[in-house]
Amino acid sequence: MSFRTIEWRDDKVIMIDQTRLPGEEIYNEYTDFQGVAEAIRGMIIRGAPAIGVAAAMGVALGARDIIADTHESFFRQLDNVCDVLARTRPTAVNLFWGIERMKRVAHANSDKDLASIRAILKAEAISIEQEDQRICRAIGSHGAPLIREGATVLTHCNAGGLATAGYGTALGVIRAAHEAGKNIRVFADETRPWLQGARLTAWELMKDSIPVTLISDNMAGWFMKKGEIDCVVVGADRIAANGDTANKIGTYSVAVLARENRIPFYVAAPLSTLDLSLTSGDEIPIEERHSHEITHLAGRTIAPEGVTVRNPAFDVTPAKYITAIITEKGFVRGDYESGLKALVGQ
Ligand code: MRU
Repeated sequence: MSFRTIEWRDDKVIMIDQTRLPGEEIYNEYTDFQGVAEAIRGMIIRGAPAIGVAAAMGVALGARDIIADTHESFFRQLDNVCDVLARTRPTAVNLFWGIERMKRVAHANSDKDLASIRAILKAEAISIEQEDQRICRAIGSHGAPLIREGATVLTHCNAGGLATAGYGTALGVIRAAHEAGKNIRVFADETRPWLQGARLTAWELMKDSIPVTLISDNMAGWFMKKGEIDCVVVGADRIAANGDTANKIGTYSVAVLARENRIPFYVAAPLSTLDLSLTSGDEIPIEERHSHEITHLAGRTIAPEGVTVRNPAFDVTPAKYITAIITEKGFVRGDYESGLKALVGQ
């Protein structure tokens, strides 16, 4: 891959600005946790695993800048840093997973001096980023055998290198199949309203010379019916214990259409996207974003002023529509309840 989504460099966090793609490839620098929180909220960085990495790096930046004479004061301020980062976006559980992991590491080292705790947090954030790249490759190698030679694969939103520390989850499966020499093609849903498919998925696949065809969301069903789609692979923002999966709005419709047309529907996600504390998808909090995303397109008004708008950013696909959930430890199908528990060793 010829771009970096996020990295820690010279004690700054560097992120490719995803609001500017595909037109401009610009890298922003963040020197404090407030900046990282704003970047997550403003979708400079987005995608569940990527915001988990960003939040962890935000915690490390925040810890570095805390002025405290005592451990008690340090940990109180660290809690505040974590709260600010946790309030950025509600649906992707990886965000909370990243923050909790950083908190756990800080507390496990609370017997050390503050300089050491800060250094340990920085090292932890960097290792979360590197780990995520390895996890995506493992997801790719478990998922690639599910994609047959010559297949056309539909994906929704962007679950690629841009949504992770690199390589991607759904696009990781696609990349691994492509690297294995399979002659595959991708259909990318444009993904209204934020256009992650058009702006990001098409961009990164073209950069890697993986054949991609862009369609608008309402075309997917028609291409399935005509037999032009062989399988669907998407990412996830939060997976409940029963396998119900929150992902970008529109995923549910794609899953139902795939079932109607007897097309396999795969979810690819790291184990950090599992939330086994939730029994079903009904409990997953769904982010509602600004009405402007619906009423405006490329800075132009496309709806009458004052119209009532709803804008949920995610939906939940019931587990019954999911053919398999592909993780870094292998894939689960059928009984998700016990399969997912077994994968995480619970
Ligand atoms: O609103 P976004 O762009 O953060 O939503 C991203 C998605 O829904 C992705 O499909 C999901 O996070 C998986 S990314 C590997």
